[in-house]
Amino acid sequence: MIDVKFLPEKLKSAQVIVVIDVLRATTTMITAIANGCEYIIPVQSVNDAKVYGKEFLVCGERNGIKPEGFDKGNSPLEYFDVEDKKIVLTTTNGTKTLKMVEGLSDKIILGAFINFSATLNVLKDYSDILFVCAGNDNEISFEDLQVAGAFVDRLFWNLSDSAKALKYMWNALKKPNFSGVHALKLKELGFERDLDFAMSMDLYNIVVEYKDGKVVKGG
Ligand code: MLT
Repeated sequence: MIDVKFLPEKLKSAQVIVVIDVLRATTTMITAIANGCEYIIPVQSVNDAKVYGKEFLVCGERNGIKPEGFDKGNSPLEYFDVEDKKIVLTTTNGTKTLKMVEGLSDKIILGAFINFSATLNVLKDYSDILFVCAGNDNEISFEDLQVAGAFVDRLFWNLSDSAKALKYMWNALKKPNFSGVHALKLKELGFERDLDFAMSMDLYNIVVEYKDGKVVKGG
């Protein structure tokens, strides 16, 4: 079954789980890994992040903005210079959702548009996939649903009702359309370039996984 949770609730196990927070946590983590970051440890809170030692870059956001004392925020455009770095990251919804799916699958993948085709190639080998959209503060995110819809549209196993609904939505859109509430908020905060970046298809040809508490390049 190909299933989609519009929000990280009523979660269940699956052969593969794909976590989507396209604005911006999964886009940011994929960018960091594509640019040579060794691994990323996602954590729940700003205080959890601060306890990591000097060998880590302490990164993330609250209300879209870099917390005081952090090395980097959550803009993917800040992650082109992270070769061989170790990162600890906390974001409002994305890293929280990764922690929530821990233990529900042996294969947890990060979903976004910037490495869409590479991820799709892996997903094609599986018939039991759960897409989990992170949403924004318990509200659905139009942008996350688009990523899930684009994947579902290319998978041909049994679709749940939520997956079917997104297939039709994606077919009406045909390309990313980032105009939801969180996209508008990011624009207001001056992160318009992040939206263009996150809407770009296939900038990277890698798969990114969450394994043993770390976000790493997948095999
Ligand atoms: C989140 O995890 O809620 C986001 O990635 C927020 C953002 O920085 O846009």
